[in-house]
Amino acid sequence: MQSKSSKQQKIYNGKYIKLSKIGGGSFGQVYLVKDIKTNNEYAMKKFYLDNLGNGGAVKQFEILSKFDHENIHKVLDMFIAPNKNQYLITPYYPNNLYNYVTKKLPEKIIKQIILQVINAAKYLHSLKYIHRDIKPDNILISNEGKIILTDFDLCRLESKGKDDPLTRTAVTLYYRAPEIFFGDSYYTNKIDIWSIGCVFAELVIGQPLFKGSNELSTLSKIIQIIGCPNEDNWPGVSELPNYLPFGGGEFQLGKMLENGGLSKEGIEIVTNMLMLDPKKRPTCEELLENEYFKKDIASVDELKKIMELK
Ligand SMILES: Nc1ncnc2c1ncn2[C@@H]1O[C@H](COP(=O)(O)OP(=O)(O)O)[C@@H](O)[C@H]1O
Ligand SMILES: [Mg+2]
Repeated sequence: MQSKSSKQQKIYNGKYIKLSKIGGGSFGQVYLVKDIKTNNEYAMKKFYLDNLGNGGAVKQFEILSKFDHENIHKVLDMFIAPNKNQYLITPYYPNNLYNYVTKKLPEKIIKQIILQVINAAKYLHSLKYIHRDIKPDNILISNEGKIILTDFDLCRLESKGKDDPLTRTAVTLYYRAPEIFFGDSYYTNKIDIWSIGCVFAELVIGQPLFKGSNELSTLSKIIQIIGCPNEDNWPGVSELPNYLPFGGGEFQLGKMLENGGLSKEGIEIVTNMLMLDPKKRPTCEELLENEYFKKDIASVDELKKIMELK
């Protein structure tokens, strides 16, 4: 139900009024709203009517309601207006990792952030879900220093086998794993590990690692920085539908991360997450077992202070 208050302000679902616009993307727009009875603030995501192919608010509500994890977005309310617009109400988080990319955070802070993102992904993967759109803009931060993975528009269950192919338009270009570019319809949750590796590297170097303007130029960047995929480093790659025998490319990632000030151990972790062959990338569990995430890591309080969360 939508009605007008005396000041002609639209009231959504009989409860919420808009305060400001927070974001807008491919699937809808996000507003900061206030519950008129309690004065509590929330984020309200409006899904574009012509882009409900991914299920809109109804599907996101259904998926998010299944999850219960401290690093995953909670969902509070969902409603469909008479004009069929769909809305999702979630807690509001005032900070977004996207705004910290150029800040060159210290390694121990980056480590704490990535640790929490891996914890979120580990939970999703344990339930057989793949997020499929991990990137800085989809990582929110609470004022208490909690990292919150959001935007489940593209999230879905793993492929169940040959009769259940996955779409190849998943994941924002810069964070998209090479197997997706090569047309693999049976990619696994290792595409999320690739994306997290990209986010990790981005926080170190201060800009997206594989910044291409289209699919081919992004893939060329990957080859330029990681090396050329072939049957030696990635058995089976030549059988993928869109595989092209590229030439050139040599491993430059180590130098780039070193120039960004990352430790030897950090470089090793990012390198493993960005293995061309998805089978060689570590799982979330394997990452969390690594000593790297157990020592020289900032506390959540330090994170709050250094990131100036208020
Ligand atoms: N709960 C929230 N709190 C604060 N900001 C949010 C929240 N949800 C989304 N946003 C902001 O809105 C942007 C777009 O929301 P998102 O769910 O990622 O939709 P899209 O599918 O359009 O990318 C996010 O990148 C983030 O900046
Ligand atoms: Mg988003």
